[in-house]
Amino acid sequence: MTSIDSTQEPRLVASSAKVQSNAVSLGVEAGELVAKGVCAWFSGRLVLADVDLEMERKKVTALIGPSGCGKSTFLRILNRMHETINGAELAGSVELNGEDIYSPQQRATTVRRHIGMVFQRPNPFPAMTIEQNVLSGIRFNRIKTASKDDLMEECLSKAGLWTEVKDRLSNLGGALSGGQQQRLCIARALAVRPSVLLMDEPCSALDPASTLRIEQTISEISEEVTVVIVTHNMQQANRVSHSCAFFLSENGQPGHIVEVGKTEKMFSNPEDPRTLDYVNGRFG
Ligand SMILES: Nc1ncnc2c1ncn2[C@@H]1O[C@H](COP(=O)(O)OP(=O)(O)OP(=O)(O)O)[C@@H](O)[C@H]1O
Ligand SMILES: [Mg+2]
Repeated sequence: MTSIDSTQEPRLVASSAKVQSNAVSLGVEAGELVAKGVCAWFSGRLVLADVDLEMERKKVTALIGPSGCGKSTFLRILNRMHETINGAELAGSVELNGEDIYSPQQRATTVRRHIGMVFQRPNPFPAMTIEQNVLSGIRFNRIKTASKDDLMEECLSKAGLWTEVKDRLSNLGGALSGGQQQRLCIARALAVRPSVLLMDEPCSALDPASTLRIEQTISEISEEVTVVIVTHNMQQANRVSHSCAFFLSENGQPGHIVEVGKTEKMFSNPEDPRTLDYVNGRFG
């Protein structure tokens, strides 16, 4: 751990820290993400305080908690998207397989390739074909691949979309249904072979059938990729995740983690009564 101070003093992360050409390799295996003492500010307001969380390799970790408690902010800190927001600051550390993702040697674009993100609203490039969408990441990052056709079939299959689109790969990505577009975004994210996939409420804009299809996809890809998912849907958290972290922001206080544990325990016998109330829908 080298670069982020853990003293809860914010630092401007959008600063022009010099990036050296020998950026540290983050590896291509499914990764273990470890956050320590993470704090976040927007325009000087502390919104997330002292978050410690280990996100296990090849497991699904769900971030749960009421609106405004800092789940999306925390997720964006995990792949250096927080620093793209004006006035955003952070403290603490995030390591992927023991490498500090905020090290001055590390490029944000490289970090984001290893730690991909799927957003709430499906965002395929609408003017690109299905095929171009899937391959856009490897084109952008100039990643060499033996066979683009094989990679495309592999990623669309893993995302659970191949059989539905294999005969119309040259159709526009924007012409698919919402659920299909979200699976296309997952295929696009997988094509650069990330170690971790972050998902911020990936099903909240989808119907129940598409939601179940995406959950199935999440279970399948977690055999290869570590997944961190934000969800307001407690049944979904229960179905797809191995562990849950319960975030809370009480009485205007910054968001923090109340409890982390195996999903089964968090839903049946958590340590903190607030966790049980939340997972049973008694508040939030
Ligand atoms: N771009 C921003 N500028 C200023 N404040 C922000 C910004 N984004 C988030 N915040 C504030 O940070 C806090 C945490 O927001 P965040 O979006 O992380 O919560 P969340 O848990 O993801 O909520 P939700 O469940 O509604 O998506 C909130 O008080 C929010 O108002
Ligand atoms: Mg959010």
